[in-house]
Amino acid sequence: MQATDAFHFPRGFLWGTATSSHQVEGQQANNDWWAAEEQGGMIYKNQRSGPACDWWNRAEEDFDRMADLGHRTHRLSIEWSSIQPKPDRWDLGALDRYVEMISGLRERDIEPMVTLHHFTNPIWVAERGGWANENIIPLFQKYVERVVRRLSDQVTLWCTINEPMVLVSQGMMLGLWPPGKRDFSMARRAAINLARAHAVAYHTIHDIDDRAQVGLAKHMVVWNPDHIWLPTDHLVARLFNFISNHIFLRAITQGVVRLPGTRPIRIDRARGTLEWLGVNYYQRYRVGLRMRQMLQSLIPGLSGEFLYRGTRPDHPQGPGTWGEFHPRGLYESLGSLMRYGVPLYVTENGIPSQDDGPRVRFLINHLHQLWNAIQDGFPVQGYYHWSLLDNFEWAEGYNPLYRFGLIEVDFETQQRRVRESGQTYGQIAQANAITRDTVGRFAPDLDSHLFGGNHRS
Ligand code: BGC
Repeated sequence: MQATDAFHFPRGFLWGTATSSHQVEGQQANNDWWAAEEQGGMIYKNQRSGPACDWWNRAEEDFDRMADLGHRTHRLSIEWSSIQPKPDRWDLGALDRYVEMISGLRERDIEPMVTLHHFTNPIWVAERGGWANENIIPLFQKYVERVVRRLSDQVTLWCTINEPMVLVSQGMMLGLWPPGKRDFSMARRAAINLARAHAVAYHTIHDIDDRAQVGLAKHMVVWNPDHIWLPTDHLVARLFNFISNHIFLRAITQGVVRLPGTRPIRIDRARGTLEWLGVNYYQRYRVGLRMRQMLQSLIPGLSGEFLYRGTRPDHPQGPGTWGEFHPRGLYESLGSLMRYGVPLYVTENGIPSQDDGPRVRFLINHLHQLWNAIQDGFPVQGYYHWSLLDNFEWAEGYNPLYRFGLIEVDFETQQRRVRESGQTYGQIAQANAITRDTVGRFAPDLDSHLFGGNHRS
C-alpha cells in the first residue's frame, strides 16, 4: 500500500466506545432520572428508561462484540445510586457486579476507563439539594472511596465527572433535566461544588493508588460568530467559549474560579488535579447579538431574546436544536485544550441519526481531523465513540432520531445488529489507520476528499 493510501495512528492508540450506567444498564430505580421518568413531563413521550440495554444482565455479550470489532478500550460509568441506594446502605453485590464487568473487559484485553459520575444522583442525594448543596462533596467522596478501593487493582484510567457544565446548564439553568430548575445562583453553586468534588475525588483516588490516571470528560462546543464581519458576534462567541468551554477547566487547573464581575473564589486543593483531559465533542453553533431585540429588551413590556444561538440551514446538522456537524471542530477543540498541558482523550464523539450513512461519514471525517491533530503534535491517546449501542438518550428517551449506536438495538427483543458504521470503526481500529480500502468500501464518496489532494500520511 502506498503511503498516501492510509492515515496511520500512533502505535498503542486506544480505540473504543463510551456508555453510561443509566443509559444502558436498566432498572436504575434509585436515581433522580428514574424519579423524573416516573413523574413524567420531562422526557420524550413520557418514556421511561426501563430495562434500557439490559447491561446489568448482559453486558458481557456486548463486550464480546467490542472484542470482535477490535476495540481496545471502553469507557463505562458506575452508578452511585446502585452502590449506595440509601444513605446508610451500601450494596456490596452491586459493587461485585462492577468488579465482574471490569474483569470481563480485562479478560478481553479491553482497557476500562471508569467514570464515577455521569449525570445521575441517588434520589436521597437529590432530596438533600444535589449538587447545589455543598454537603454533597463529603458524600461523593465516601462513594468514590468505596468504589476505588474495590476497583483500583483493575482500573488505572479514572474519569471523575462527566460534563459538569452540561449537568449544570441543563438541570439548573434551562430546567430541562433533573432537578428541573432555572436558577442562576443555584447553578453557580453547583458548578463550584462540582469543581470541588472533582478535586476531592482526585486526591481520594491518589491516596488509594498513586499510579492512577485521573481526569474528567469536558463537553466542548464550537461557538462561531454568526456574522463574520460583526465585532459584537465575535464578542458573543468568545464569551460563550469562555463560559461553556473554559471556566470549569481553569478552576480545576488553577484552583480558582474567576467569573467576570465577581470576586475570585478559591477551590480548595483543585490546582493541578488533572492527569489527562477528555473532550466530548458533538457540535457547532453560530452565535451573535441581535441589536433590534436588544434595544427592545430595554423598553419595558417589549422583551426580546437578544442573544442568538443557531445554525445555518444549508449545513449538515442534527435534529431539533442539536447544532451543526463540524468535523474540523474536533481538531479545534483538541487544540484549544493544549493550554492545559496534559494528555488528551476524545472521551465522546458521535451523531444522533436514524440512518447509518451519515454516521459512517461523520466517523471518517472526524477521525481524519483527529489524525490531523495528532500529526500536529496534539497529545491524543485514545478515541471513544459515543456510543457502542443505541441507548436511553436522557430527555429524548428512545426517540428514534437520537440513535447513537455503532450497534443497533431492538428495545423490544434486546437483539443487536452491528451497523455499517460499526464495521467501519472496527476496520479502522484493527488497522490502527483510516485506509483507502475502508473508505472505498463504506464511504466511496469521501475518497477524493481524503485521498485526492496532497494529504500527509
Ligand atoms: C453525554 C451522553 C449523551 C451524549 C449524546 C453527552 O453529552 O455525556 O450521556 O448521551 O452526549 O447526547
